[in-house]
Amino acid sequence: MRISGNTIFIPGATSGIGLELALRLFDAGNRIIIGGRRTDMLARIARDHPGIETIRIDVADADDVDRAVTEVRQRFPETNVLITMAGLMRSEDLSDPAFIQTAVTEVQTNILGPLRLIAGFVEHLVALPDATIVTVSSGLAFTPMAGTPTYSATKSAIHSFTDSLRIQLADTSVGVLELVPPAVQTDLMPGQAEAEWAMPLNDFVDEVMTLLPTATREILVENVKPLRFAEAAGNRDDLMAGLAHLTG
Ligand SMILES: NC(=O)c1ccc[n+]([C@@H]2O[C@H](COP(=O)([O-])OP(=O)(O)OC[C@H]3O[C@@H](n4cnc5c(N)ncnc54)[C@H](OP(=O)(O)O)[C@@H]3O)[C@@H](O)[C@H]2O)c1
Repeated sequence: MRISGNTIFIPGATSGIGLELALRLFDAGNRIIIGGRRTDMLARIARDHPGIETIRIDVADADDVDRAVTEVRQRFPETNVLITMAGLMRSEDLSDPAFIQTAVTEVQTNILGPLRLIAGFVEHLVALPDATIVTVSSGLAFTPMAGTPTYSATKSAIHSFTDSLRIQLADTSVGVLELVPPAVQTDLMPGQAEAEWAMPLNDFVDEVMTLLPTATREILVENVKPLRFAEAAGNRDDLMAGLAHLTG
């Protein structure tokens, strides 16, 4: 996708990867609309970065997605890029049936959230001359982490859905990209922002900004390639065992 001159809606950019990417894209000359649930974070971002727009949205709530999509389309009809960044990751003990509560929240946020956003924007985007949908999966979509089973499964679903979306929209003006992060130092999981097994956020977004202008399918930084291609390399089971050990 082109790297400037877009109007970009990023639900899930009040912190972490979404916020850092939003700030880089803003500096690169794009209009940016940041979404999320934490209104204190939205207010702080708007105050600290004049020109960035903010909208409250809970992607796990169908009615709230409808309301926010309508608001974005009315206030910013030139919106031509949607980045479905919002996501959450929780540990689950599958021997305890209570895991289902976590699983439902993750499915609503990580799968139904992006799908509802895409449903809300697709007619709008195909009517534009140049548009992009960027979904956000994970290296764990390809090599799951046993300690976060539903999370890994939601990201596999996003990968699969994105491949189909790309083919269905191939004859339209809408490009479809999949951002596939490796472990990155954010607050996604407790302690992850300082974890040595996660890559620094700035390094990750540096690499993403380099890849973005020429990406046509998946956006793969070097660190995610071992997870992404583990099955083809024949070492997926070994990597899964290593990830299980990592999370105890
Ligand atoms: N960091 C990693 O290692 C890593 C690796 C692979 C993939 N990813 C993916 O990257 C994306 C960003 O994660 P991150 O690492 O930057 O973590 P983060 O700092 O926790 O950011 C998560 C973002 O999602 C938003 N969000 C969560 N639930 C939401 C909801 N129901 N409605 C609206 N927004 C919601 C949060 O905003 P509010 O709390 O304000 O709503 C926040 O802005 C996620 O999809 C994650 O799965 C991250």
